[in-house]
Amino acid sequence: MLGLFESLKPDRTGLAAVSPQTHRLGSHPDPAPQPVTPTSGRIVGKLEIADLALEIPGRRLLSSASLAVNAGGSLAIVGPSGVGKTSLLNCIAGISTPAAGSVAVDDIELSRLPSSERSAFRLRHIGMVFQFGELLPELTLLENVALPLRLLGEDRRAAEERASARLAEVGLVDQARSRPELLSGGEIQRGSIARALVHDPSLVLADEPTGMLDEDNTGRIVDLLIESTRHAGAALLIVTHNPTVARAADRLMMIRGGQLLVADGGTLHAEMQPS
Ligand SMILES: Nc1ncnc2c1ncn2[C@@H]1O[C@H](COP(=O)(O)OP(=O)(O)O)[C@@H](O)[C@H]1O
Ligand SMILES: [Mg+2]
Repeated sequence: MLGLFESLKPDRTGLAAVSPQTHRLGSHPDPAPQPVTPTSGRIVGKLEIADLALEIPGRRLLSSASLAVNAGGSLAIVGPSGVGKTSLLNCIAGISTPAAGSVAVDDIELSRLPSSERSAFRLRHIGMVFQFGELLPELTLLENVALPLRLLGEDRRAAEERASARLAEVGLVDQARSRPELLSGGEIQRGSIARALVHDPSLVLADEPTGMLDEDNTGRIVDLLIESTRHAGAALLIVTHNPTVARAADRLMMIRGGQLLVADGGTLHAEMQPS
């Protein structure tokens, strides 16, 4: 009974419709590229970005941005509002395309995939925590968290069991049957984190994932993100304004003056001033 889910235009949440056919990745450097289907096994959670340029009409947001996150590793990026942090995550996820440069996960260059393959890749291999949660209002919290699994073809019972386990991890068991309109901003954000992790993605992109959480929940949620991705061998990229979150990641970078720069604890304090 996928009818309901097919009608929900999953791209509204950055998830993507599944194309049933086999996907062969023409840009894979391996001379005998493996077919990758949305339901095929996990890939290595290794993110590499090289010489990336991001533009919006009339303005260049980022030039020559390069970064790498190893499987099981984490990187936090800080920078004031409006510098292009969300735009960078959208580009890494293949929701938007770069003006120049490359984004590769497990040596598969996403920017060179046709858009249908990129969508299927995103659904299977990437988990996104959106800045404002972006749960679908028509669905309960449990259905929202189960949605990536349903779109990947898992049956309702199995999908909702896995979704329930993720909701327990973020402390939302009692809210499972509630629709998003009844949830607080922090609960929506925690639900979005559960949804991002539910399908065991190889890459997790988290956009200010604790922006609406209190300090206690911030600590718990950042530990959950870091530990579960480390344990699963996934790469974690977090954009944040929160020094606790930034310090918890293995490495730190910042965006300043259109450049992505390596940062450390010493530069963190100045970068964290509200703007
Ligand atoms: N699709 C778009 N079209 C035009 N301008 C955009 C678009 N997306 C973002 N912007 C602008 O790009 C800049 C960076 O936005 P964003 O990536 O959301 O920044 P941040 O997440 O660092 O706050 C902002 O000035 C924003 O208004
Ligand atoms: Mg943003």
